[in-house]
Amino acid sequence: MSKYASWTHGKLPLPELLELKRRGQKIAMVTAYDFPSGRIADEAGVELVLVGDSAAMVVLGHDSTVPATMEELLLLTRAVTRGAKRPLVIADMPFGSFQVSDDDAVANAVRFVKEAGADAVKLEGAGPTLSRAQAIVGAGVPAMGHVGLTPQSATMLGGFKAQGRTAEKAERLYEDALALEAAGCFAIVLEAVPAAIASRVTEALQVPTIGIGAGAGCDGQVLVWHDLLGLYEGKAPRFVKRYADLADQARRALEAYVADVREGRFPEEQHTYAIPDEELDAFEAWLGARGARV
Ligand code: KIV
Repeated sequence: MSKYASWTHGKLPLPELLELKRRGQKIAMVTAYDFPSGRIADEAGVELVLVGDSAAMVVLGHDSTVPATMEELLLLTRAVTRGAKRPLVIADMPFGSFQVSDDDAVANAVRFVKEAGADAVKLEGAGPTLSRAQAIVGAGVPAMGHVGLTPQSATMLGGFKAQGRTAEKAERLYEDALALEAAGCFAIVLEAVPAAIASRVTEALQVPTIGIGAGAGCDGQVLVWHDLLGLYEGKAPRFVKRYADLADQARRALEAYVADVREGRFPEEQHTYAIPDEELDAFEAWLGARGARV
């Protein structure tokens, strides 16, 4: 029996996020990029699954998130929504999918919902992003904002580094977060922001903040799947907490497999299929008649 209203088919209703904030109940979000990660995230009880454009780096091996395309994110989002049924699945709008115009932004957001089953989209930045967010929400697609370190503009920000570390920059960030809420965003990601500033922003907003490198005062937290599980072996930002070392486990498992194959220890009888004796005899007789070497 679903714990939510029946019309959601067991899906976490979006307005429940406001209720979680009101109750001071923390929200857990994680990224996912395929069917098994979506399913595991669901089973683990997260409220929000983000199909992040971080896929460009952790899945596709690029140096930044900029090369991620709509087609790639659509493919990944489709896989995740097949696995994650209860959490809200948020598709990250890749660089170029919303920068050109409000119309483009709406068209691409609608593609995520119609073609990939996403429940919402996320888009980075403020400024011109405000009218994009407003247009997307106006078209009926829930939108999540993202301020602080916005990796799509890392070059303009001077690299992957913490934001809002002067009073002036903190004021701008605070105003941007409020403006995104006013534009209709249902939640705001705060990335790489001093904890004290993130707490103030969180207090000022009605909608939840989801922090990544923004301290414990946010209403929720997000981590990238590969960072959390130790699958991404590049240099991790200081805000990453690694809960497992799956890359190491996977490497050791594969080494054992390679050794088994080379030494003839795999496959064993339990991994193979049998054929009834009489069928095998008939086959051998056929081979003999055919003149095959036996
Ligand atoms: O792309 C992503 O994974 C993100 C999170 C880090 C918030 O935007």
